[in-house]
Amino acid sequence: MAKTMHYSELGLVNTKEMFKKAMDGGYAIPAYNFNNMEQLQGIIIGCVETKSPVILQVSGSARKYANQRFLPYMAMGAVQMAQALGGNIPIALHLDHGDSFDLAKSCIDSGFSSVMLDGSHHAFEENAKLTKQVVEYAHERDVTVEGELGVLAGVEDEVSSEVSHFTKPEEVEEFVEKTGVDSLAISIGTSHGAYKFKVKPGEEVPPLRFDILEEIEKRIPGFPIVLHGASTIVPEYVAMINAFGGKMEEAVGIPEEQLRRAAGSAVCKINIDSDGRLAMTAVIRKIFSENPSEFDPRKYLGPARDELIRMVKHKNETVLGSANRSSKFGMRNTE
Ligand code: G3H
Ligand code: 13P
Ligand code: ZN
Repeated sequence: MAKTMHYSELGLVNTKEMFKKAMDGGYAIPAYNFNNMEQLQGIIIGCVETKSPVILQVSGSARKYANQRFLPYMAMGAVQMAQALGGNIPIALHLDHGDSFDLAKSCIDSGFSSVMLDGSHHAFEENAKLTKQVVEYAHERDVTVEGELGVLAGVEDEVSSEVSHFTKPEEVEEFVEKTGVDSLAISIGTSHGAYKFKVKPGEEVPPLRFDILEEIEKRIPGFPIVLHGASTIVPEYVAMINAFGGKMEEAVGIPEEQLRRAAGSAVCKINIDSDGRLAMTAVIRKIFSENPSEFDPRKYLGPARDELIRMVKHKNETVLGSANRSSKFGMRNTE
């Protein structure tokens, strides 16, 4: 049996203070997914260099990939690395799209500071029951919980749905009250993965449903909202992938402008996975194409990590507004 560990032993924090400051300050906390060391380091360096709080998130399958016994120590390493770089930024470790009480419990017991119970594919009552069960276990240990209402379209390893169902604003008060969740993921037109919309060249992507978001904000004022499926699918990375032997012609995501608008609202957490994957893949493809004899992983994973750092800094500074928000009370850092 693995030793039970509380997140505070790893130097992590839960998301409560982060969200409060983000709500008051009109910005969103970045939640970047990772599976391996280079991704984790890229995220941490990018956030330290921009003085941004950060949520490190792993899906159930990412946790399996990295190894569940290994993972908490990766997070601990990330905290130590941030401190050594001189950035005492708040860092949370979050389970993304948890689908059962047992998985959420196992994460909490091994050092996660935040968990999501994604019961969105269940009927309302079942979703609320499952979520509440996780909230009870989590809150006894000061771990924060994200729930979800509404279904996002898109296909990932363990997150898949053919169609989206927008969140029904009339359900949110009851859900939040019944479950005691700390934040709520909603569906307003984003979707997972690299192919978010089917658009012809030159056509605009459909705008997010800010009317639904506003209605939700009216019903649960000041309550932290989470946006999944929020990668921009950076066109430069897609072009680079296609130029160096890849095949992702129809990849398209959420324009930065819309994410900026969301970050200024009750949206306190913005999830980004696909853009990080694209950044690293684009660089690795270019290196392999230009240097076919290269076989030292540091020579392609290193530059891929550097690109991820650039991407994270750009998102924090110009899209989410989380740069210079790592100091006390969420005030802009002045040093
Ligand atoms: O929303 C899901 C994340 O992008 C994680 O995807 O299950 O492939 O790790 P994954
Ligand atoms: P993207 O696929 O748009 O990066 O979304 C990631 C996500 O929502 C993780 O939960
Ligand atoms: Zn998601």
